[in-house]
Amino acid sequence: MSASTAPTSFQAPFDAPRLGEPYLLTPGPLTTAYEVKAAMLRDWGSWDGDFRQMTASLRSQLLAIEGDTKGEFDCVPMQGSGSFSVEAMLGSFVPKESRTLVLMNGAYGKRIAQTLSYLGRDHVAIDKGDYMPPRGHEVAAALDADPSISHVVVVHCETSSGILNPLREISEAVYSRGRKLLVDSMSAFGAVPATSEDFRYEAIVSSANKCIEGVPGFGFIIARKSELEAAKGRSHSLSLDVHAQWDYMNKTGQWRFTPPTHVVAAFLEALRLHQEEGGVSARGARYANNRNVMVSGMRNLGFETLLGDEWLSPIIVTFFSPAHQNFRFERFYELMKDKGFIIYPGKLTVVDSFRIGCIGRMDQHVMRRVVDAAAASLAEMGVDRADPPQAALAERARLAA
Ligand SMILES: Cc1ncc(COP(=O)(O)O)c(C=O)c1O
Repeated sequence: MSASTAPTSFQAPFDAPRLGEPYLLTPGPLTTAYEVKAAMLRDWGSWDGDFRQMTASLRSQLLAIEGDTKGEFDCVPMQGSGSFSVEAMLGSFVPKESRTLVLMNGAYGKRIAQTLSYLGRDHVAIDKGDYMPPRGHEVAAALDADPSISHVVVVHCETSSGILNPLREISEAVYSRGRKLLVDSMSAFGAVPATSEDFRYEAIVSSANKCIEGVPGFGFIIARKSELEAAKGRSHSLSLDVHAQWDYMNKTGQWRFTPPTHVVAAFLEALRLHQEEGGVSARGARYANNRNVMVSGMRNLGFETLLGDEWLSPIIVTFFSPAHQNFRFERFYELMKDKGFIIYPGKLTVVDSFRIGCIGRMDQHVMRRVVDAAAASLAEMGVDRADPPQAALAERARLAA
């Protein structure tokens, strides 16, 4: 039995009632389709030919989404959460005697620098604080000033603020100076175009439980074959060695160590739904619509977004916490949960905020209900308007200037 014969008889609409299960307005794990969950209702032998065929299909479908038309890239799935794959990418593709420029504008950029420190890889950073984008001209200047930098690492959608970083101009700055780019596209891949023709890179990482809408359990690294070859013997880690996993998978069709079999089966079903929906552009359009409906409804209540419209990703949106004296995020969270929606605390250091995700198995009808739930929750808290503190808006205007 191949994965495609997993139970798929029931196809729920995007706004299906959740049978008591709340919607996860979080950027992964996220709300998955019934069919994705149902695909996990059988066991798979990890050495068996059926599962090897499932692994091969997963790899080739991800490469098709990445858009490699010239056969220059390959896909290496890796057990663990997304951070494991980021660490695997850095340990495998950043040479030991090299200097890396890390572009930081939030928690995940910081984690990249922290990972490089653990790996003992020399690095410098452009740190734009909580949410301002690193710009191409800043990268160009940093590279011109330091010829010893060989690699640049950037987060595609910095999920801590929801900003979509300007990858095209960054990549141009990197390659026009003969350096190499590695991308953490954890929360963007599958919904935001990321082919190597959109912007050039050596490797890009994402995971099962983000925009492809699978369940958590593995990540994947899509890298140039030339980089995969060059990574032989470089990794600091046995289990996170991308070259070793790639080589073994190519020779045997298997994962080196116990694969997350059920997660892979669920992911193949998620890939089928991704394709059925219309691929990256259709998925991105649904998420953008989710965002637009949700943001305009929230603004009507007085809420304001941390980011100006030009930087808002279709993945997750950060809102300032309202200035009203009765507003408490913990209470708002519980009231939203009572109404069937799990929201996300903020991750900013300077101002109070919270986040609402736009990704997962839901559509604009769900997002309208989210806004209704927010309105009802505010009323229960005795908050008539959700306007942010003036100081937060002034800070945003200052940084944007
Ligand atoms: C951009 C980005 N990088 C890395 C990670 C880390 O992934 P994980 O929490 O699965 O380890 C996340 C998680 O949301 C992310 O959004």
